[in-house]
Amino acid sequence: MNGESGVLGPQVSGAQAPLIRPVPPGPQAGLTCGLADPVGVDEPSPRLSWGARLAEEAAVTVRAEGREVWRSSVPAGSHLVDVPDDLLAPLTPYTWSVDGHAAGAFTTGLRAGGGWDAPWLAGDPRAAVSLRGSFTSRPGRVWLAATALGVYRALLNGVRLGEEELAPGWTDYGHRVRYRLLELTRLLVPGENELELWLAPGWYAGHVAGGGPGRYGDRPAVSAQVLVRDGAGVRRVCATDAAWTRHDLGRPRADLIMGETVQTPFPQAGTVHTPFPQGGAAEPVAVPEVLVEADPAPPVRVIGTVPAVCVTEPAPGVQVADFGRNVVGRVRLRVDAPGPARIVVRHGEELTATGRLYTDNLRTADQRDEFLLGPGRHEVEPAFTLHGFRYAEITGFPGALTPDDLEAVLLSSAMAVTGSLTVSDPAVRQLVANIGASADGNLVSVPTDCPQRDERTGWTADISVFGSTLSFLRHTQAFLSGWVTSLIDGQRADGAVPHVAPVLPEYGYDSPVWSDALVEVPWLLWRRYGDDRTLRRAYDPMRRWAAYCLAQTEDGVRPGRALGDWLAPGTVETPRNLIATAALARSLRLIAHAAGVLGEPHAAEYAEASARVSGAFRRAFLDGPRLRTETQTGYAVALAWDLVAPEDRAASARALAELVRADGHRLMTGFVGTPLLLPVLSETGHHDLACRIFNQEGYPSWRYQLRAGATTMWERWDAWHHRHGLQTPAMNSFNHYAYGCVGDWLFRHVAGLGDDPRGTGGGFGELLLRPGPVPLLRQAHARYASASGTVESGWRAGPDGVQFTFAVPEGVSARAVLPVRGAWDGMTVNGTFLMGLNEQLPVTRLAGGGCALSLPPGRWSFTAPSAATAHLLQEWDDLGSWRRQGFQTR
Ligand code: BGC
Repeated sequence: MNGESGVLGPQVSGAQAPLIRPVPPGPQAGLTCGLADPVGVDEPSPRLSWGARLAEEAAVTVRAEGREVWRSSVPAGSHLVDVPDDLLAPLTPYTWSVDGHAAGAFTTGLRAGGGWDAPWLAGDPRAAVSLRGSFTSRPGRVWLAATALGVYRALLNGVRLGEEELAPGWTDYGHRVRYRLLELTRLLVPGENELELWLAPGWYAGHVAGGGPGRYGDRPAVSAQVLVRDGAGVRRVCATDAAWTRHDLGRPRADLIMGETVQTPFPQAGTVHTPFPQGGAAEPVAVPEVLVEADPAPPVRVIGTVPAVCVTEPAPGVQVADFGRNVVGRVRLRVDAPGPARIVVRHGEELTATGRLYTDNLRTADQRDEFLLGPGRHEVEPAFTLHGFRYAEITGFPGALTPDDLEAVLLSSAMAVTGSLTVSDPAVRQLVANIGASADGNLVSVPTDCPQRDERTGWTADISVFGSTLSFLRHTQAFLSGWVTSLIDGQRADGAVPHVAPVLPEYGYDSPVWSDALVEVPWLLWRRYGDDRTLRRAYDPMRRWAAYCLAQTEDGVRPGRALGDWLAPGTVETPRNLIATAALARSLRLIAHAAGVLGEPHAAEYAEASARVSGAFRRAFLDGPRLRTETQTGYAVALAWDLVAPEDRAASARALAELVRADGHRLMTGFVGTPLLLPVLSETGHHDLACRIFNQEGYPSWRYQLRAGATTMWERWDAWHHRHGLQTPAMNSFNHYAYGCVGDWLFRHVAGLGDDPRGTGGGFGELLLRPGPVPLLRQAHARYASASGTVESGWRAGPDGVQFTFAVPEGVSARAVLPVRGAWDGMTVNGTFLMGLNEQLPVTRLAGGGCALSLPPGRWSFTAPSAATAHLLQEWDDLGSWRRQGFQTR
């Protein structure tokens, strides 16, 4: 921390310290490889974690069917342990516990090292089909292991197995595809059991990213095997072979982007389609060689439903349901059809001026489902498609549609919720909800840019800039680690890193910040979860990426590449070579840190390379503290990534502050600058300006989109503009999480909950609690179930001052910075007015204002009198001027 001016009180020993005792962590759910009780773990040495640091040494025990198979002690301070390599048998359920602290379970997978030898059966290029086989039940534990080049659903004796949707998700099929394990033991009936696999084109053979169908292959294929484990070991009793049959499923069209047609079978005459034909022989097919590995990521599931709030009829026979918020999933429809019906459901995010569905921004994504129904009551829903929508336009519905006739079914890769942010201002609450909604909607197997238009790809910068916010809100470790594998798979032999993962080469390679996700995301996983395994896997690829970039530099400056500060408003562009050079210096520094963490010998080499590139940055782009081309993004990267000479830092921050004022307290940043701007202002003593930008209601700002009724995060600041209406349909998503990166600032700089940004440790063990009250808000509070335990930080403003509250878990070091002025002695701590506080709790007065102190584990509450906090919540004269201008919401 810069600018400390001496300790006010003596250091206290541990024995004297805490004013209240911490609540010891109770037994809680542990995670195996980042997931709760995963089934199908092929990791040779599964990692167990319990979301807390041990206060003292503890015993960890792993059991199989009650029998202890491993026992070891884990040292105080640890929050994870690895089960030793090769201790575990395949297809075996294990439980584990850490001395009453945590318990978990997992089931091993095939552990066949990728040696998948079940045959494959072909599907249809357009339709979803059903493939059926049977086997006789046996004693022992019985499992289904299934995968597809396409997407599948598994059923046993007509009953769906599990809840996974769109399995096995999207991977770089040139390299790998993932299988999932489902236990059948208790579901078997005596004698013959019928296994059914529904198979649709999915990402493999359907439309992907505007490029038409069949990107990876013409036809989908599925492969599955039933395995029994009994006293004699593991045997295969059934596999997808030539004995299987293939059947029409009444889903002649099933495409992720274009939509699905669902027919119900019915025998009546005069119907709109023919009954399903009998099954024929299934077709075994040879597929390109591909590694089949256990899925390390959480499955996609239905995460909730949203009712329609109203239905309108903008034209005769055209009914439009409004779900009140932008969502990702599909529509479930309840129909009572007096006769045959053909109902078409189209999906969109917006309406036209006449209340019709607006679909221009979907580009070629049709988002059209059809239901061909016989007479009678039906509840129907597609199974193999995905739409981004707030509105559904329905034609062909028999009679008047009511909100009770339908609901939106939401899909997402199900990740545990780990963080929450409570704020007094309803607009900010809506913003936090919008960030969460865009996260859920864009985490369907792959972290995507958007869920509605014909793109829906794993854009690297989007997740890189949003990753920190996201990883407060959700437990992302297994999901993002699985995605990093796709990013590594897509790296070119010369070291270039793609812009999207799974790679689509036509989307390009090697843009700064975008491709640097290869460094940022594994580093994030290390910092949050202590995940050095993903860091280890990414380490050599990172080094190849660094070598590729360094080879392009001229005098240390990296040439500007394609994307720059993508979608920044304003007229002055941040030079692309400035961004490129800054991003390179940053990545080199992180690789140096990674080398240190991994015990690799290259730390000094990368630290030097980073220093060289930083020097080149200063020579090329700075005159002392000032940028030659002054932009908010330029200053934000220079300050955030430590490219300014230390002696010029304060002056550079002042130059940025001047620029922000000159820009009317409006941000002028795109994808690169936005995640950095507010944190940099708050960190350099300009929190008030960060707050003004945040409280801005005019264009461009977060509140602008809230006032315009946004229910998810917009791709562009002017996705809708009060003067120009909707942005170009060529690129205008209303559901893009990138600008949700402001969540990170809300956690760290408003509620004050974060880890030390200067630290390099893993697992959130070094806290920096730095609440920053914001005018317009009266209260903010963050809670985060971190890898090291639950952390809380927040504040509440009242007539008598501001109360700051914290919860610090056992075993972490916490430093709090309180933005109070004047004498510390007026402070009430944990309900006690403590004049002599300094003897118990040494406080450091900071030169830039505020006080810093180390907080022992426990719950803390500090109430600062209004004299010490009045400066924090003064409202500015011009606040609300936008409201006075008579801004009309849409
Ligand atoms: C995507 C992005 C992405 C950008 C970069 C867009 O089409 O939606 O969010 O980062 O392209 O070119």
